[in-house]
Amino acid sequence: MEPNWLAMADERRARINDFLSKSLARVQSAPATLLEAMHYGLLAPGKRVRPLLCSFACEAVGGNWVEAVPAGAAVEMVHAYSLIHDDLPAMDDDDLRRGRPTVHKRFGEALAILTGDALLTLAFQTLAEEYSSTVGAGCCLELARAAGACGMVGGQVDDLMWEGKVAGPARVPTVEALQTIHAAKTGALFRACLRMGWLVARGTERDDDLFPELQALDEYSHCFGLVFQITDDLLDVEGDVVTTGKRVGKDAARGKLTYPGLLGTASSREQASRLAEQARMAIRCLGEAGAGLAWMIDMLLTRRQ
Ligand code: IPE
Ligand code: IPE
Ligand code: MG
Ligand code: MG
Ligand code: MG
Repeated sequence: MEPNWLAMADERRARINDFLSKSLARVQSAPATLLEAMHYGLLAPGKRVRPLLCSFACEAVGGNWVEAVPAGAAVEMVHAYSLIHDDLPAMDDDDLRRGRPTVHKRFGEALAILTGDALLTLAFQTLAEEYSSTVGAGCCLELARAAGACGMVGGQVDDLMWEGKVAGPARVPTVEALQTIHAAKTGALFRACLRMGWLVARGTERDDDLFPELQALDEYSHCFGLVFQITDDLLDVEGDVVTTGKRVGKDAARGKLTYPGLLGTASSREQASRLAEQARMAIRCLGEAGAGLAWMIDMLLTRRQ
């Protein structure tokens, strides 16, 4: 019988939310208002795609998904920080996120910046406290590389350059340029999710025979990241504020470089379907164990939020 993926994802989300909530106890002596803002930004009803991916990746290579919960939660903390900063007036200037006022609207800009900083650092504290020194250090390395200057932060800089909020040389808008931005600003964290799931499952094993698995997960995550951002850009054009929980129709007005802006919605959707197929092919070598990952990529193509 085909597993009930939706029910399975709900069960995992509940476990992840519980872990996220308890994680704030690690910094319980922080100023109360900071803790309140961290809770507000982190526990708001997001989809928890990154922790789910981490859990399915761990399972795909023979691990127990429960052990990947702290790793997935750490990525979710980095993600929550990135959203809080992304919404700031100096960046995308948004007032609605996950169906609620953005953190800076609710708590002010200064506290929003610091809340992001606190969530980013809590992610690394969580990894170091939850895992053995080898797995913890490996996960910290993957997450730092993905979140930093050559990953998400670099991608955000590039994204803002296209709309003129960050100074940079004039460039020709091409699909290649767009893919580079998407791969960094969105894809890098997904790659870290897959790699951290692998690390948690494999622990300290360093057998060269295992590296084809890692290559498969890398290829999958590259495609997943692109499909995710293409569909995010499509939702900005075709989605609605109630279902997405954020303002729509803003990317074009800001002059952002997006797939629908460059290729139109129909070609963007075709491109997303092609990449999803590439992702499915990449993980065929993992067999039945990769079925959760295959389900995750299918979900992206029909998502409404
Ligand atoms: C939104 O991410 C930001 C992008 C990288 C496009 P999600 O769509 O995963 O946001 P939440 O976590 O569900 O709110
Ligand atoms: C944000 O991309 C990616 C991040 C690193 C946060 P977007 O700016 O398109 O995300 P939304 O649409 O505001 O969620
Ligand atoms: Mg942005
Ligand atoms: Mg934004
Ligand atoms: Mg967007």
